[in-house]
Formats: sequence, structure tokens, C-alpha cells
Amino acid sequence: SKYEGSPEILEARDLASVAKYMNSAECKNVFTMLGAGISTSAGIPDFRSPETGLYANLARLNLPYPEAVFEINYFRENPRAFYTLAHELLPGRFRPTPTHSFVRLLNDHKLLHTCFTQNIDTLERRAGVPGNKIVEAHGSFVGQHCIECDTECDGEKMRQALNTGEIARCPECDGLVKPDIVFFGESLPQLFHRSVPNLRNADLLFVIGTSLTVQPFASLASLVPAHCPRVLINLDAVGDFGSKPDDVICLGRCDDIVRDLCKALGWADELEAAWKET
Ligand code: APR
Repeated sequence: SKYEGSPEILEARDLASVAKYMNSAECKNVFTMLGAGISTSAGIPDFRSPETGLYANLARLNLPYPEAVFEINYFRENPRAFYTLAHELLPGRFRPTPTHSFVRLLNDHKLLHTCFTQNIDTLERRAGVPGNKIVEAHGSFVGQHCIECDTECDGEKMRQALNTGEIARCPECDGLVKPDIVFFGESLPQLFHRSVPNLRNADLLFVIGTSLTVQPFASLASLVPAHCPRVLINLDAVGDFGSKPDDVICLGRCDDIVRDLCKALGWADELEAAWKET
């Protein structure tokens, strides 16, 4: 499909050159940087899209400002806002998208080195990307801890609390319990920091469905070696894409672009089959 956008936006033929490179011997280690844009077609709103983004639709929570719902100090005072939102975002209620299945295909074709994702919806796992290749930089709902004494708390109790909206308390110190998603002001998981140096081995980087506005995640895009092409697949141009001669910028809906790329790779049927399994 044609991609709108400014003249330097490269034509679909450049997906053909990306596909050709992916099939070449030089392309061994592919990395992805994923954001909320890849889950919008699954029904999960992203954060910053003007009309549909989460941050434009939190009026019912009476927040001082939208990001407060993910701030540890606001949570300590008003945990109900996050609980209400978490209930709506609970994993398990959504299905992966063709873009998630594309990342799984990268692994099936022995190209995927690491899937860095900002998303907490665990849809990468659900699409069949192996857990040991996923770095959930902003955590996920997989675990939960007390925000005061850091005691690991019971998952069933947490799920129950998120479902009923009652507040889960720590059995040790009665502090508030929060899923292990990274709130603003909290440090990112150790796994993230341990995985960052691997980017020096990148032969190809896909940045898909992210505004590249949140650090330190966004800075990953500038850590790949000079020879490593960076492919942006996003509704709009973001970050410093276009600053490097071999940046490939594809503006449009990620599922459409991924389907076009899979056609060029000869993976179209595999993509539909993998997605059908989810
Ligand atoms: N196809 C392609 N791009 C899309 C699509 C789509 N179907 N839907 C949305 N996008 C794009 C938007 O245009 C935007 O550029 O995806 C990007 C989503 O940006 P954000 O909403 O800012 O989401 P993200 O970049 O993942 O946010 C980063 O912010 O609040 C924190 O911790 C939260 O992990 C999150 C971080």
C-alpha cells in the first residue's frame, strides 16, 4: 500500500530492499523496539494519539494530569485511579495483532536477537515470541510487589483486586501492592540494563508503533552500529529517523506495512497462519 507523508518517505520498493537485506548473509541479528501503537488494532488504546490515546481519555479518573495514573507518589495517595485503569487493561482480554506475529516470524526464521518492548500487555509472549528473547522494559503484570517493603505478593489476590477494584494490601506491612509495571520515577528492570549492550551486535533494527518520547527506552534507537539500518514503522515520523542515510521510514498502520513486508519476504502465508494461531 502507498505510504502518505513527506517526500523523503521512501516508497514501498524500499520494503523490497529491506526484505532483500533480511534474506542476505549479513543480516543475522534483528532487534525490535515496540510501543503501544502495535496493540491499538487489538483494541488497547495507545497513550498519546490525540483523540483515542489513553492520556486523552482519563477525565473520569479526575487526575491532576494524565501521567499521574502511572506515578508512584500519586498511586500512594490515590491507588483507585490505577486500579480502575488496570482493570480495563488487564492482560488476557486481548488478542495479539499481525505485527506481534511478525516478531514471532523473525524468531521462526532465526533472525530475532532481542524484542525490546515498552508494552505491558504481554501480547508478544501470547504471539509466540520466546520469553528469553523479550525485554519488557516497562515491566508487565506478570508479578506484583509491595511498594513499601518490596515483598513479592500473591498473583491471585492481585488479579482478584484488579477485577473487583478493591485495593490489595501487603501481608507483611499492609503497604499498597502494585503490579511490576514500571511507574514514572521507578528504575527499569535489571534485564533491560543487561540487554542494552547487545545492541552493538545489531544488523537491523525495527522501531514499530512508538512515539519515542520516553527515556531511557527511546535512546536505544541511537545505540545500533553505523552499518545497521533502522526501519521505522509508525503512523508518524518520530525520534531522529531520517538523520541516518540508511534510515527506512514507512508511515502508515503497522499491520498494513508488516503485511507488505511479509509479502516481499515471501512470508505472507506464514504470517496469516501464525496470527490465526493466536
Ligand atoms: N500503526 C502504526 N503506528 C501507530 C498505530 C498503528 N496502528 N497506532 C498508533 N501508532 C503510533 C502513534 O502515532 C504514536 O506515534 O504509535 C505511537 C504510540 O505512541 P505512544 O502512545 O506515546 O506510546 P508509546 O510510545 O508506547 O509510549 C511509551 O509512555 O506512558 C508511557 O510507559 C508508557 O510505555 C509507555 C511509554
